Amino acid sequence: MSVTVRVPAKVNVQLAVGAARPDGFHDLANVFLAVGLYDEVTVTPADELRVTCEGPDAGQVPLDRTNLAARAAVALAERYGRTPDVHLHIAKDIPVAGGMAGGSADGAGALLACDALWGTRASRDELLDICAELGSDVPFSLVGGAALGTGRGEKLTALEVGGTFHWVFAMAERGLSTPAVFREFDRLAEGRDIPEPVASEELLDALAKGDPDALAATVSNDLQPAALSLFPELADTLAAGRAAGALATLVSGSGPTTAFLARDPSSAAKVAEALRTSGTCRSVRTASGPAPGATVLGRPSR
Ligand code: C5P
Repeated sequence: MSVTVRVPAKVNVQLAVGAARPDGFHDLANVFLAVGLYDEVTVTPADELRVTCEGPDAGQVPLDRTNLAARAAVALAERYGRTPDVHLHIAKDIPVAGGMAGGSADGAGALLACDALWGTRASRDELLDICAELGSDVPFSLVGGAALGTGRGEKLTALEVGGTFHWVFAMAERGLSTPAVFREFDRLAEGRDIPEPVASEELLDALAKGDPDALAATVSNDLQPAALSLFPELADTLAAGRAAGALATLVSGSGPTTAFLARDPSSAAKVAEALRTSGTCRSVRTASGPAPGATVLGRPSR
């Protein structure tokens, strides 16, 4: 008796960041695109809550109750008056601490898996509320596709996407902490007026048309200068991808994973090969988006 849920990674095609709020968070206009790199979360009844993880980055994943998958199981169990006595196993393919919402994916995946295993039948809105409590990016991991996130990124509006976008992702030698990147954003912004974050109409139009050239002309990430300030070597990775013919290059979210938009799968393969041999990153993956949100692969065999 177990349930497996598959959850995608994301890239932010626009990340507009406002000034720090009194609660320390930042208002965002965050255009998420889910891409086909996935974690799988399997939940099985157990004597007590336990988390295990497999995959190339598994050693960096916390296996205690700070893991977002564990926190999701606890949050759902509390709401439905039961104990979170499950074994959560994460098959991890999304880079850890990479700015691709890998931890958020595991939170959304565990939530949906526990909901299916326990037959709680929580409504979509209830699940989204719990996701928002777990973290700013977790609601998007549940819904996937493409969406505009406002507030701290958790208030979602689904976006139309008129085609498939092809991406290359370069994983860095080390991770970056999201709070540290936001703190660096604040430091770099000191003494400057920070405008209200708004989504770019041209970018939303490019997504709706499925036009990679138009998207390339409009992608932006306000956290990129902060990520580059903390991790200057990322500039070499971006330059290597640009030289190999990527239409656009950017840091994914708070980084340090870098993202390269390609016109089609063959040019994505070319950019990927150039990055692999550039010596500027740890590993390279290709993936396209939009990808579906958290999806139950197995049903309880009861
Ligand atoms: O919401 P989440 O737990 O993913 O956020 C991690 C950290 O990133 C926060 O503690 C905060 O430092 C920063 N953050 C922010 N503004 C946001 C989202 C995240 O400052 N909108």
